[in-house]
Amino acid sequence: MTRLILNQRAVELDDARVPPDMPLLWALRDELGLTGTKFGCGVAACGACTVQIDGQPQRACVLPVAAAAGRQVRTIEGLGTPDKPHLLQRAWIHHQVPQCGYCQSGMLMAAEALLRSNRQPSDAAIDAAITNLCRCGTYPRVRAAIQTAARWLREGQPWA
Ligand code: FES
Ligand code: FES
Repeated sequence: MTRLILNQRAVELDDARVPPDMPLLWALRDELGLTGTKFGCGVAACGACTVQIDGQPQRACVLPVAAAAGRQVRTIEGLGTPDKPHLLQRAWIHHQVPQCGYCQSGMLMAAEALLRSNRQPSDAAIDAAITNLCRCGTYPRVRAAIQTAARWLREGQPWA
């Protein structure tokens, strides 16, 4: 049995269905039904599968379930909801960031971790922190949305 905290709720995974060496991505998607986290490359290169483990972005396609045992796992489903979007999701909508959308949940999870550690990131800091790949080329809008979210954090949120 692997126990972890998923989006602030305790979860138990049966070894018979979810062996400890199974990549966390498949446990999330196939066992727990959280399909917001995507499979891209499977080799830790693209970032489509990015989740947060104890607040840090990690690539779930290469992280065994056992490595998440007893830890806080946060996925895109734990970031915001349609009724209550996260500040970054509001910024994403404001800048109309996504094209196909496939990479975007991973982008957001990496961006949220960045903003928690740096409320005034330069474009260079964003590029260094967000190593996720986007085949649609949304990088300029990702940067702009992170800058906007950071400004809302510092100066107040226009909808509040
Ligand atoms: S699917 Fe995990 S990094 Fe590409
Ligand atoms: S929006 Fe299509 S891959 Fe990034």
